[in-house]
Amino acid sequence: MDSKWIWWKHGVIYQIYPRSFYDSNGDGIGDIPGIIEKLDYLKDLGIDAIWLSPVNTSPMHDFGYDISNYRDIDEIFGSKKDFRELIKEAHLRDIKIIMDMVVNHTSHMHQWFIESRSSLDNPKRDWYIWRDGKNGKPPNNWIAAFGGSSWEKYAHTGQYYLHSFVKEQPDVNWRNKELREAMYNEMRYWLDRGVDGFRLDVVNWFMKDENFRNNTLSLRPQQLQKHRYDRNRPESHEIMKEIRQVVDSYKDRMLVGEVFSLPPGDPKLSASYIGDGTDELHMAFDFSMIYKRWNARTVYRTIARWMEIIPENGWPCHVLSNHDQPRSISRFGGGSDAIKRARVAATLLLTLKGTPFIYYGEEIGMRNISISRKDIQDPLGKRYWPLYTGRDPARAPMQWSSEENAGFTRGTVWLPVHRNYRRVNVETDAADKYSMLNHYKSLIRIRKKKKALHMGDWTPLIKGVDSIIAYTRECEEQKIFVVLNFSNGVRKLTLNDRGQWRVISSTHKFVNEHFTDIDFKVMPYEATIVQRIGAL
Ligand code: GLC
Ligand code: CA
Repeated sequence: MDSKWIWWKHGVIYQIYPRSFYDSNGDGIGDIPGIIEKLDYLKDLGIDAIWLSPVNTSPMHDFGYDISNYRDIDEIFGSKKDFRELIKEAHLRDIKIIMDMVVNHTSHMHQWFIESRSSLDNPKRDWYIWRDGKNGKPPNNWIAAFGGSSWEKYAHTGQYYLHSFVKEQPDVNWRNKELREAMYNEMRYWLDRGVDGFRLDVVNWFMKDENFRNNTLSLRPQQLQKHRYDRNRPESHEIMKEIRQVVDSYKDRMLVGEVFSLPPGDPKLSASYIGDGTDELHMAFDFSMIYKRWNARTVYRTIARWMEIIPENGWPCHVLSNHDQPRSISRFGGGSDAIKRARVAATLLLTLKGTPFIYYGEEIGMRNISISRKDIQDPLGKRYWPLYTGRDPARAPMQWSSEENAGFTRGTVWLPVHRNYRRVNVETDAADKYSMLNHYKSLIRIRKKKKALHMGDWTPLIKGVDSIIAYTRECEEQKIFVVLNFSNGVRKLTLNDRGQWRVISSTHKFVNEHFTDIDFKVMPYEATIVQRIGAL
């Protein structure tokens, strides 16, 4: 086993949605100086790296996931100087910075696209995907993730361009060698400036079918067609390999990729983007967990499947929430048990083998906001309301204090703050020893302190039977045992592993309490971690 501390493997990563983290200048939108102000909070929380959703220049048709200049920072978020400062200040605190690289598409305002669309023979024409229509209709039947045809006609040349998301997000042509090289240069630009890694957006969409064949119809819910020809093309792996080489020519950098799949998730597909564990992404997100109900068996199977499919030399990562999905606490069922479930979920996330990603606000138990039509910002919400309210509910401002606007801004918030902010906020939680925040903090601290938890093997012992998941984490001399009760009932637990055990974290038992053998009651929604301190 590798016993050297590797930040992206053994640390904890925190995702910030910059618009909603902290607003330093009162315009109602979070910004980079705001993040800098909160670095001490993050240090105290104990995280090792921040993944920032995009802060590059963007006309914000998809809130930064439509980049018009990879080398600059959008003024809404600050300046390049602010970003340099962020890297410096984060590094001073041993916190790494991961940038979002959105390279499946650019903004329609990107200079490359403006050139590309200008004429049929522009040198950058082939940097995007242009095609003639068929009898006055789009070139084929592909439909965009955000609705409608994936093709948009550009009157000036009469051809159509491909956009897998909104029409302001033209897909680039990864088959073009010059485009590839240009993209790698944009990556090198930030690696040269000390960025520690990238989160790559929708990696499984980079390459499209060479012959632009029509997709066939799908009978699955939420999906009108099988995206066989516009997503998940095997050729996308080639690109991963090249990007990996770019990143590996720098020391200690990391790539994590979003492998987009619809419910119930596709762990095999996600894992395939790690390649043999050394030649594609360092880590891939799989959303299977996000798509599952609160049920111990289901959750166990989902994790087991994910662990099993990670290649021998690869490394898993785990995620409960992100800026595209409803918040975990809201997903796992409302009512008074929600917060108890969230504690169990946090214990799971932070004791599994694999890098945990925490979405901002989860550490204080932030919930989805409910949103009215007039407040919707997300293009998806605008399009599908009221069938689907979009992604805004999980993107609300961070709840810092019980002051107005939850202490997020002195201006007018860009998205409503959750109405529970007077009760649920960082300030209140910090003062309460038993709060969610302190639960997270102690879990992160323990994970870091115990080698078995950040490096050790994972061995499941109870696989969801009777609503219990239990496993050990073990390395060299250390053995740690984790038990999670997913139900509101009391369970009796007896394990055939004799010895002395000490509680190191628990929602119910006393820390430092000793047990001879694991033979105890597990209370409703109990999450307990014990360490073996000696044989019998
Ligand atoms: C990814 C992002 C999402 C964005 C989409 C298009 O799924 O996470 O927020 O809308 O890609 O870039
Ligand atoms: Ca601001």
